[in-house]
Amino acid sequence: MSKKKIESNYKKKIDLLTSYNKNYYDVSKPLVSDKEYDDLKNSILALENKYSYLRSEESPSKIVGFKPSKNFHKVTHRAQMLSLANAFEREDLMNFEKKILNFLSKDKDFKLSYSAEPKIDGISASLIYKNGNFKTGLSRGDGKEGEDITANLMTIKEIPKKIEFKDFPEEIDIRGEVFIQNSDFKNLKDKFANPRNAASGSLRQKNPEDTKKIPLKFIAYTFGYEKGLKAKNQTDFLKNLNSWGFKINPLNKLITGIDNLLINYSRIEMDRAKIDFDIDGIVYKINDFELQKRLGNVANSPRWAIAHKFASNKAISKILNIEIQIGRTGALTPVAKIKPINIGGVIVSNATLHNEDEIDRKNVRIGDLATIERAGDVIPHIISVDITKRDKKSQKFIFPKKCPSCGSKTIKEFNNTTKKEDAVRRCSSEGYDCEKIAIEKLKHFVSKEAFNIEGFGKKIVENFWNLNLIKLPQDIFNLDFKKIENLEGWGKQSMENLKYSINQRKNISLERLIYSLGIRHIGLENAKILSKYFKSFSNFINFSNEVNLDDILNIDGIGETQLLSVKNFFNNKINLNILKELQKNLEVKDSSIKNKNGLLNEKTFMITGKLNGISRAEVKSLIEENSGSSVSTVSKKLNYLIIGDKPTKKKVNKAKKLKITILNQSQFLKMLNITS
Ligand code: IVH
Repeated sequence: MSKKKIESNYKKKIDLLTSYNKNYYDVSKPLVSDKEYDDLKNSILALENKYSYLRSEESPSKIVGFKPSKNFHKVTHRAQMLSLANAFEREDLMNFEKKILNFLSKDKDFKLSYSAEPKIDGISASLIYKNGNFKTGLSRGDGKEGEDITANLMTIKEIPKKIEFKDFPEEIDIRGEVFIQNSDFKNLKDKFANPRNAASGSLRQKNPEDTKKIPLKFIAYTFGYEKGLKAKNQTDFLKNLNSWGFKINPLNKLITGIDNLLINYSRIEMDRAKIDFDIDGIVYKINDFELQKRLGNVANSPRWAIAHKFASNKAISKILNIEIQIGRTGALTPVAKIKPINIGGVIVSNATLHNEDEIDRKNVRIGDLATIERAGDVIPHIISVDITKRDKKSQKFIFPKKCPSCGSKTIKEFNNTTKKEDAVRRCSSEGYDCEKIAIEKLKHFVSKEAFNIEGFGKKIVENFWNLNLIKLPQDIFNLDFKKIENLEGWGKQSMENLKYSINQRKNISLERLIYSLGIRHIGLENAKILSKYFKSFSNFINFSNEVNLDDILNIDGIGETQLLSVKNFFNNKINLNILKELQKNLEVKDSSIKNKNGLLNEKTFMITGKLNGISRAEVKSLIEENSGSSVSTVSKKLNYLIIGDKPTKKKVNKAKKLKITILNQSQFLKMLNITS
């Protein structure tokens, strides 16, 4: 075939692929089957391989930025897929247990039993079973919404497709980890960096036939939504899983008390290398489901479970420089640039020094030899420096008194709770006025728990910022895609992917939107509280007209610090403009009050005095679960005052004066049909 003919053949294929992509991404109507699409793509790649002169911006080999994971449809999880808080030391475990005992109002001698499950480092998946049939399989995604990867999960032998046991629930989401055994990974070493990447890559194959070739395994460990599950605790549930045909981790154990958890931890850590799958710690779960239910969740993780990560790796290297990074909230974080060193298989060249005080406390100087520690996925940090090896000419590190990005004064705030000066020094400018803060704010805006714009990673934010494509959040929704398509490293396909991701997120909940704004002290939980209070985006935008400051302070969870921070946000003209522009570009869903018909619908409660056998935190979450709300002051807006032992007299008297119903603990519990 002549060169010309080869080129025209190639061009035809590229045009065809472009039209397939366009239909898929723009109008969500695939023109061909996945197989046909893949065959075409592979034939283009093969041609390029054979004839190196073939080039096209639209080539699938040019796709940069991110993989077209939107080949998979997004599905909302019936129950959120939570993540776990981390523990590293005995002290973290003690705190974890203490918090649980406090919440449950148990005394410190109360013995808690845990299901201790070695934490497999793979990819989690949720398998939806209806009447014993495996119907749909989802990836974790952002925890709320996953990708439909059913076809790929179907190829895994260890996933039962039909379960005929009588005690198998009518409906259940079985959750667990997809992974590759180390012995199987040996043959895949050339293709993937580690077993986890191999599992992730295989699960995201467009063609299930490709997934089938990889020896993926599945271990089950928890459930999401369920109807008809009889187990009363985690150990029984694990036994059930096994009897239904799921593989479970053979190293799971039921353990009572922190000391025994630590013994088990050391044993497993010692044997870690002998196990044929990668584990990065041990998950501890309160065994009793009743207690788990009482404990509930905070933001994205359960109160009843924690991941005890394995000890880190340490190494010694030289501090070449100390750089100052500026975070989203203006915090100045010193980062030690160290001579690159391999710590447990990862090349480390940065280590955090946390804040100004830490540099002083650890007496760290540029040029010092430092011990650096790396634990799991946490940023490496400096443990100590060797002063005996210090160069005589070395000098104390002077922390900048002006922001290295915008030149504003840096300040240490006074912390009203601790009555001390903060350890963190901050840039005093107003958010978007400081370049570095603005970039970090934008990174936060697009991040997973915020707008979750797939493929819009940190590097892209920086790149677009430098190219003046985005300066403020609203710019994301008015991008010049023609310009992006022509940027180096971009092409039609990757541009279309990005456009698709952004368009998908134009419809957003008020809660997420508030969180995305990155208002200081307004994390996920507070964003949720505020969204419930404001109910709609237009109420929120009109904050200064809408809000009665006493009202907002009366919401439990919002204190002076949070209110001041929100007020500051609304005092800033740039922020007001951002909100106005976002309103033009977005469809913000009103916050729907969950479970509107709860037993305490729209009633307000306040607690005073010590309760018996139940903590305030638990009473508050019971109130919320039943559509009531708890407030922090006695006013006309209060419906019920719950009194325990030694209530504050002033509060009781005020409530009596205002004719507010006063309840004792058991009267309150009776309202919820709970007998104490
Ligand atoms: S339970 C309760 N159990 O760890 C909510 N997770 O950070 C968490 N994981 O996404 C799930 N082994 O990928 C649970 N025995 C185990 C686990 C486990 C590994 C992973 C899972 C999850 C992550 C949580």
